[in-house]
Amino acid sequence: TPPDTVNIVEVGPRDGLQNEKNTIPLETKVELVRRLARTGLRTIEAGSFVSPKWTPQMANSSDILENILHKPPESPEEIVYQFLVPNKKGLDNFLNVYNNPSPHDPLTPPPSPRADGTQSPPSHALFQNGSEVEISIFTAATETFTQKNTNCSIAESLARFAPIFEISKQHNLRIRAYISVALGCPYEGPDVGPHKVADLAISLLEMGADEISVADTTGQGTAPKTRTLLNTLSAAGVESQDLALHFHDTFGMALVNTVVGLEHGIRTFDGAVAGLGGCPYSPGATGNVGTEDLVYLCESLGLRTGIDMVKLAETGEWISREVGRGNESSAGKATLAR
Ligand code: HMG
Ligand code: MG
Repeated sequence: TPPDTVNIVEVGPRDGLQNEKNTIPLETKVELVRRLARTGLRTIEAGSFVSPKWTPQMANSSDILENILHKPPESPEEIVYQFLVPNKKGLDNFLNVYNNPSPHDPLTPPPSPRADGTQSPPSHALFQNGSEVEISIFTAATETFTQKNTNCSIAESLARFAPIFEISKQHNLRIRAYISVALGCPYEGPDVGPHKVADLAISLLEMGADEISVADTTGQGTAPKTRTLLNTLSAAGVESQDLALHFHDTFGMALVNTVVGLEHGIRTFDGAVAGLGGCPYSPGATGNVGTEDLVYLCESLGLRTGIDMVKLAETGEWISREVGRGNESSAGKATLAR
């Protein structure tokens, strides 16, 4: 039998950077995606088509998409690049680039016109190596968080998704759906009913979501809470293969909760290189669990990730310096200190 494998979703370029106060240059964001693509990661969340008034750091995500479509990062694997989309407006902005990429990459000068004066036609160079793009949508398990994060109720958020599902399916785009505050809410407290999460997961799967990422936005999850939530999801008919787990590490419990997820049969986990990040609408919450730590944990348990730990750790150290933060990944720092 082939060895058990784990798929790690790198959310650093989106979740990791969205909360940074100082504007990070487009070149740095693109370089981060390119470095991550060389580590063996197969899924990278590269940007976010949210309102620039709400999350200014993500304002140039269309340039990131454009760059990826034109100059696909060199990678040993076919890669799925995900982009967060909150509403139809965000999807329209995404599709504008996806369907009509400009004739050249935003970071390189326009190619010289041909002899007949025309430019070379736009192409989706990305797809020539089998890579793909995907959409991520997001809602939350509490009304207050949904209001603070997306200015609508939970029911309204689902209504917003209906056209996103319809149009995305027409374009054969897969959809990942996040459920935030599944293990604690910054506004409604640490005990969010697991049934609320399960009901939402079922609704999103019925609407057509290809994967549900259950998010511990505040890091208030513990091993028993995580176990109860996963059991509740199973009892409601949500299968492990349709789930991903997205842990923020505010209380240092992310790896413990990851082990609970692994024991439950989950094989997709989100991380941010160097433990970057946080949600701007979740006060006090810190970054995602470090991708390096997830890789180290999985490999220590005999689970393959396909990721080159040294390249990943070097990328974590590099981006930490670029954004002027300490590297929050223990395994990343230890790998480089050897
Ligand atoms: P709103 O202000 O209620 O939107 O924001 P609106 O529909 O009333 O429109 C107001 C204006 O915004 C209009 O422009 C729209 O065109 C524009 P105007 O006519 O005034 O010039 N607008 C947009 N512009 C660009 N892109 C768009 C867009 N939509 C409207 N997509 C909205 C509602 C949902 C857009 C806003 O609340 C929003 O963008 N929220 C996102 C906040 C965010 O980025 N949060 C972090 C990401 S989620 C997260 O981190 C959690 C996760 O990691 C999992 C976890 O850990 O929990 C995924
Ligand atoms: Mg998050």
